[in-house]
Amino acid sequence: MLRELTGEERAEYFHCIQPIWGGGLEETRFVAFQRRLADSPESRERYRLLGWFSPKGKLLSAMKAYHLAGSCAGRPLRLLGVGAVFTPAELRRRGHAAEMLKAAMDESRASGSHAAVLFSDIDAGYYVRLGFRALESRECTVEAAQLPRRAGYRPAFAGDEEEMTSLFAAARNSDQRFALARDGWTLRFQLRRLRELARARGSGEPEWGLVTEGGAAMLRFGRDTLDLLEAAWTSDAARDRVLAGLRDCMQRAGRPRLRLWPAAQLRGLFAESERTSAIAMVAPLAADAPLPEQGGPGELALLDHI
Ligand SMILES: CC(C)(COP(=O)(O)OP(=O)(O)OC[C@H]1O[C@@H](n2cnc3c(N)ncnc32)[C@H](O)[C@@H]1OP(=O)(O)O)[C@@H](O)C(=O)NCCC(=O)NCCS
Repeated sequence: MLRELTGEERAEYFHCIQPIWGGGLEETRFVAFQRRLADSPESRERYRLLGWFSPKGKLLSAMKAYHLAGSCAGRPLRLLGVGAVFTPAELRRRGHAAEMLKAAMDESRASGSHAAVLFSDIDAGYYVRLGFRALESRECTVEAAQLPRRAGYRPAFAGDEEEMTSLFAAARNSDQRFALARDGWTLRFQLRRLRELARARGSGEPEWGLVTEGGAAMLRFGRDTLDLLEAAWTSDAARDRVLAGLRDCMQRAGRPRLRLWPAAQLRGLFAESERTSAIAMVAPLAADAPLPEQGGPGELALLDHI
């Protein structure tokens, strides 16, 4: 049976996934971080923690489920986002995760979803057997020296979200490729995640973006990289100011490389390589859903990797 995890089950799930997705956070901090994120206003109706239970009520496998919006070929799509699928080691290889995923996809199909989307960190063949197909999944690693120098930007503050969202959305308006919506929710959810993560680390308000006249970028500090979650601009000059702002940020924070997924306006700027993890995958849930073929292009930025 598929149902939402209750308080204690959630804590158990967070405890189990911490060694894999803990990002260096010590366990109690990671559990508190995950709990606050799940209880946040941004999570309401968009983010659930689901468990697959035996008839006797034993938790066999669990996952994160997101209610996402997207589009492909100009048609709006309702999407099930799947994350952090986990089966306890002693219960693996009995089909529990597969049954849970099928049940979650059936439930989502019944409530009107057109497709499911996930980012695979394991051999993609597992998800192919469940009806998923891998999409083009590339990344760029950029050295500070490749970025222009030009003054004229400021850090993003609370209150900038709306303007940043409209810039990000405008950069994708005519998009025919498979993409997740830039309706503001993804930005707000990722910002909530960054804030809760900073709180769990005890490091206060995080630096999460930069803004310039006609341009903006949302970012996150990785261990060795500056991760560019999303960026958009309305002119070449604004693009250069955004990139110069990122260069400053890298130098200030001691991150020698910028990491990004080439989507929308970030496409075609830098050399791309195939990703070895976080492979984007989609599975149709409705027969008439317009979706890219296996290996087909998508417009998924790091911001979408939730
Ligand atoms: C992946 C995972 C959720 C599968 O759970 P499960 O309940 O054992 O899944 P199922 O019984 O439905 O399927 C088992 C299959 O999973 C696949 N699988 C498990 N781990 C895998 C890995 N690292 N790479 C590729 N395939 C893997 C295998 O195909 C395996 O089939 P096999 O037994 O014939 O080799 C579980 O191994 C797990 O929790 N791993 C750690 C967390 C993780 O990596 N999650 C996936 C994130 S994308």
